[in-house]
Amino acid sequence: MKATAKLSKDTVLADIDARIYGSFVEHLGRAVYDGIYEPNHPSANELGFREDVIEVINELNVPLVRYPGGNFVSGYNWEDGVGPVEDRPKRLELAWRSVETNEVGLHEFMKWAELAKTEVNMAVNLGTRGIDAARNLLEYCNHPEGTYYSDLRKQNGAEEPFNIKTWCLGNEMDGPWQIGHKTADEYGRLAEETAKAMKLVDDTIELVLCGSSSSKMPTFGEWEYTVLEHAYEYVDFLSLHLYWENFENDTANYLAKSVEMDKFIKGVVAICDAVKAKKGSDKQINLSFDEWNVWYHSKDADSKREPWDIAPPLLEDIYNFEDALLVGCGLITLLNNADRVKIACLAQLVNVIAPVMTIKDGEVWKQPIFYPFMQASNYGRGKVLRLDVKSDTYDSIEYKNVPFIETTAILNEENNEVVIFAVNRSQDQEMNFETILDGFDKLEVVEATELADYDIKKTTENDHDGMNIKPNDSFSVNNAKVTGTFKPLSWNMIRLAY
Ligand code: AHR
Repeated sequence: MKATAKLSKDTVLADIDARIYGSFVEHLGRAVYDGIYEPNHPSANELGFREDVIEVINELNVPLVRYPGGNFVSGYNWEDGVGPVEDRPKRLELAWRSVETNEVGLHEFMKWAELAKTEVNMAVNLGTRGIDAARNLLEYCNHPEGTYYSDLRKQNGAEEPFNIKTWCLGNEMDGPWQIGHKTADEYGRLAEETAKAMKLVDDTIELVLCGSSSSKMPTFGEWEYTVLEHAYEYVDFLSLHLYWENFENDTANYLAKSVEMDKFIKGVVAICDAVKAKKGSDKQINLSFDEWNVWYHSKDADSKREPWDIAPPLLEDIYNFEDALLVGCGLITLLNNADRVKIACLAQLVNVIAPVMTIKDGEVWKQPIFYPFMQASNYGRGKVLRLDVKSDTYDSIEYKNVPFIETTAILNEENNEVVIFAVNRSQDQEMNFETILDGFDKLEVVEATELADYDIKKTTENDHDGMNIKPNDSFSVNNAKVTGTFKPLSWNMIRLAY
């Protein structure tokens, strides 16, 4: 098969907001306890955080981490996690039916974030709590000093404010499973008033309003419209969540599921702009895709677990090569919508539906999805170029006209590079790829790599070093034309210097 593409240095779709490579750490399962935090582990630092885990996370170059949930946040009292650790209460945690020890709270997590070289995207509880708890938490985190909560922060050891810039107004408030689930009107009003109060405390923050938990929710569309009608003037982003499953075990259909992500984004953009038009507003609401990933491998095991353990192994999906290819398609889709998607959080980061896994007292290891995320996050910085791609298409059980190739091109002016990411969805055909790049004096291939040649069900669970990015020697440049071959079922990165 053959695919052709054309781009020009001057036709830029959007600047990439680095926060598109965000991730997520929730107080859920072994994400925090026995994940990032294991005080008795040989690699733990004086705070109890595993340095070997931080080292691997640093390879992902994650600029933003959402915290502390997720469903967890809708029953969380942030005050439980500050002050002397020995005085903190143990609580029944209702979202995941576990016991929360509160050993790790706000100050500990902020220290971890510093070590992991990332910013925090903090969620407030709009399930069991509301305006008061949110504005107090913000005062605690961001106000310099001289008030009850800012002085309490100083007393608890943080002289300087945390200055957290990105905040989520609750989590998945449209979901009947959510503690404190609300109708769109109830949530819209609460979010509006909470946002108003929070921006009075600190008008430099950016706020994310909850959109739908998935595009399959019965309230999808109505929900977005209603909550935006209420809160439009006070918020900056609307959230989207999406988890992929392959219970049907159909690779062609599964790899096409990123098409649904694209449709979801474009639908939500249309709703944001419809509300903008109705209000006659000059302000644009952008998107925060603050939960996305594959999540299905662990569902059966989790449904059989007994409640009330501390750090039970929940949502420990063991990913395979097929999942890595779909995550690659997801990254490309987010980049190709970078004009409106400014934040995205791969859910999650450690142990819970995660690229990074830990063994208690043992190793840290990388799942297959680690590799496309790592390359995109490290090399997909700069501007997305408009790419005119022609590729054959296929039909699967759910999707029509799916292009065999999913691709994007990035202009990195700091490094004088054009970076192409591509997934070949074909299960048996190589793809000869030819791109014309206009506007560059001279081009040369710096690096061409692939994640390919693996069985689609291959995992790294018992073979931690068993999946690797390898060179792809087929790429060459002739004047403005770049040609090479993508193997069947492959994730690819081509870096070109100009
Ligand atoms: O990421 C796991 C869970 O998925 C989150 O807690 C929730 O927001 C979503 O349903």
